[in-house]
Amino acid sequence: MSHAITDIGLLVTNNVELGDGSDENTQLGVIRDAALVIENGLVSWVGPKAKLQATDTVESVDFGGFAAATVIPGFVDSHCHPIFAGDRAAEFAARMRGQSYSAGGIASTVRATRAASNEALEVNLLSLKSEMIAAGVTTFEAKSGYGLTVADEARSLDIAAKYTEETTFLGAHVVPAEFADNRDGYVDLVAGSMLEAALPFSKWIDVFCDRGAFSVDEARHILRAGMAAGLKPRIHANQLESRGAIELAVELDCASADHCTHLSDREIELLATSKTVATLLPGAEFSTRSPYPDARRLLAAGATVALATDCNPGSSFTTSIAFCIAIAVREMRMSPAEALWSATAGGAKALRRTDIGHLSVGARADLVLLKAPSYVHLSYRPGVNLVEQTWIAGRKAK
Ligand code: NIG
Ligand code: FE
Repeated sequence: MSHAITDIGLLVTNNVELGDGSDENTQLGVIRDAALVIENGLVSWVGPKAKLQATDTVESVDFGGFAAATVIPGFVDSHCHPIFAGDRAAEFAARMRGQSYSAGGIASTVRATRAASNEALEVNLLSLKSEMIAAGVTTFEAKSGYGLTVADEARSLDIAAKYTEETTFLGAHVVPAEFADNRDGYVDLVAGSMLEAALPFSKWIDVFCDRGAFSVDEARHILRAGMAAGLKPRIHANQLESRGAIELAVELDCASADHCTHLSDREIELLATSKTVATLLPGAEFSTRSPYPDARRLLAAGATVALATDCNPGSSFTTSIAFCIAIAVREMRMSPAEALWSATAGGAKALRRTDIGHLSVGARADLVLLKAPSYVHLSYRPGVNLVEQTWIAGRKAK
């Protein structure tokens, strides 16, 4: 049985070739008065509704009767830290009173995470996952990094791997307190037995290469060890300062360099001439009251830009990509079309995925119905969840 979604006022495919010319933002591949057919979890047909051939194997999907529904590819949240316990609301409140953000706050989440049961970690992850689906996220990445012992990193990833294939080993989040006088010992542990224990549950390896976390040489050592073991690299780069993490990202062909809050012209040029995606996480600048990354300079240079939430209890406790889109548009001067592309196709590129982030024939049928006449409403109506339905691999998840 196929499903045909037939009453789409505006469909964003992210496939330039499919666009009907009705929207000036050609990268979105917009089709007005569109239909889309799903078969076996994949998009099997897409085009103007008038051209849809009716067959008796097609069941029409009722989208609730919205005359002006907009359908977009599901959001791809390519940067999340959703496996943790504890609460840091007091730290946020202190920052809003003027305190500055530092990597040190991670230690309090590490203490709470180590003390939590597997069940508690799983319940928290599931609660965040259901928030994400309600917000239109159809793929999310999940990093470890709040366990920081061999057993706690392995169990965090074991839990994450039940809910997403995009799992990332982040043993190199910060050096935990018990290794304060033995950094080298911790780096060796991460690149050695911790990596080995994380391997069965991990696809990616990441390092927080920044002030208060890890140096470029330490990051290179850890990322190379992960790559030698079969993991693919990505990196936290230039959130707090520029210390060579972008050069390292490009040197190692990291899929993504994340944060990019402080970038020189040279670093922008490096990103623009590489396959490394610049992933911007404006929720972190919002919640740490920091200057936003310069998306316009990246886009002008031709870099590929992704937008993600960075969902974590310290620097960005949100699951709402629409919120990040609204900030990117209002504060970073991305156009609504650029921001939408970056949160869908851009996120897919940051995860080196070709099956998601667009709605071409053969793509996974991951899509979101917005109760709005246009994708512009994602930033035009900030703080309002416009997601009416979320479909993952051809099944309605919300
Ligand atoms: O991406 N930058 C490093 N890690 C997180 C923050 C983690 C925390 O403060 O708990 C981030 O912003
Ligand atoms: Fe992060």
